[in-house]
Amino acid sequence: MSDQHSVKVELGDRAYEIIIGSGVLARAASYMTPLLSRPKLAIVADENLADSHLPVLRSALSDAGIEHDSYLVPSGEASKNFDRLADLCDWLLGQKIERNDCIVALGGGVVGDLTGFAAAILRRGTRFIQIPTSLLAQVDSSIGGKTAINAKSGKNLIGAFHQPDLVLADMDVLKTLPPREIGAGYAEIVKYGALGDADFFAWLEENGARVLALEEDATVEAVAQSCCAKAAIVARDERETGERALLNLGHTFGHAFEALTGYDNTLLHGEAVAYGMVLAFAFSAARGDCPSGDATRVKAHIAASGLPTEMSAIGDGKFAADALIEAMTQDKKVQNGKMRFILAHGLGDTYIADNVAPAELRDFLLAQGAQDA
Ligand code: GLY
Repeated sequence: MSDQHSVKVELGDRAYEIIIGSGVLARAASYMTPLLSRPKLAIVADENLADSHLPVLRSALSDAGIEHDSYLVPSGEASKNFDRLADLCDWLLGQKIERNDCIVALGGGVVGDLTGFAAAILRRGTRFIQIPTSLLAQVDSSIGGKTAINAKSGKNLIGAFHQPDLVLADMDVLKTLPPREIGAGYAEIVKYGALGDADFFAWLEENGARVLALEEDATVEAVAQSCCAKAAIVARDERETGERALLNLGHTFGHAFEALTGYDNTLLHGEAVAYGMVLAFAFSAARGDCPSGDATRVKAHIAASGLPTEMSAIGDGKFAADALIEAMTQDKKVQNGKMRFILAHGLGDTYIADNVAPAELRDFLLAQGAQDA
C-alpha cells in the first residue's frame, strides 16, 4: 500500500477519521464497512464523476456486498438550492435511507455541502461520509461539519453544523483535475501555514511546486498537514465561537472580490482566498502589526504558485473601494454590524480583528489599486 495517513477529528462520541492516500476510493468499502449498521447506503455524486470515480466506488461497494444506488447532482454552485435539496431528500427517502444508514457524498465542495445539509435534516439527522474529489474539499470543506445551501442574499447562509462519520481523501482523484483547480485548492493549504504554522509555510516554500505537480509524497504530506491543522482547530472550537474563525484568513477580502466578480469563473474561491491572504498580510504590515518581510513572503509564495497577487489581475482589474467595503459589510462574518478580519502579527500568528475602521480600510484598498469612486 502506498503512503497512507489517518488523521482523527477528536469530537468525543462524534470523533471521526480522515484517511489520506492513493487508492483510497478503490478500498472505500473496507473503511466504510465497520461504520454501517446494515450493508446498504446511498451515494450522492457530482454528475461529472458518473463515468470516472463513481464506477470505482460502486464496484468497490458491490464487491463488498453493500447495496447502494446513486443520485447525480448537476455540477456547479447553482445546485446548492432549495429545489435541489428537496429533490435529493425525496430521493433519499425513496431509497428508504434510515437515520443509522450512511449517505456518501462523492464530489467537491458543492456536493459535500448539499449532501451534508441533506444528511443534517433527513429524519432529523442521518449519518454521512465525505469522499472529497477536489483538493479544496480534501483540505477544507469536507472536514469540520459545515454544511449549507445558498440563499438569494448570499452563499452558505442556510445550513447546519453536521459532522461526517468518515472522510476519504484519495490522492489519485486529484490527477483528473484542471491545474487551475489544483492551484485554488493549494491556496487553502498555504492558508494553514500562514494562519498558524510558520514551519509548514517554510516547508511549502520549499515543496509547493511538488505539491502543485501532484508528486505523491509531497501531496500526501501537504494534505495530511492541512487536515491535522483543521482537525485540531475544529476539535477545540467546533461551532466557531472563537479560534475556528482563523480559518477565514483571507476570506473577508476574498469574498468581496468574489461577490463583485459575480461568483463565476473569473475568480475561483481558492484564488480569492489567495489574494485575500496577500491583502490580509499587507494590511497587517501597513497597520504596523506584522513585519513587512512576512507579508512579502506570503505574496512571493502565492505569486510563485500561480495565484493572484494584484488587483489588476482580477477580472477587468477595476474595483471601487466603496463597493468592496460594501461587499465586506454584507459578509456573513459581520458581527454587530462590524466587519471581521483575520489579521497577522506574523507568519503563523494570526488573530481576529473586529476593530478595523472603514476609513483605514478604504485608504489601504486605494493604495492597493482600488478606485476612488
Ligand atoms: N472553511 C472554514 C471552516 O470550516 O471553518
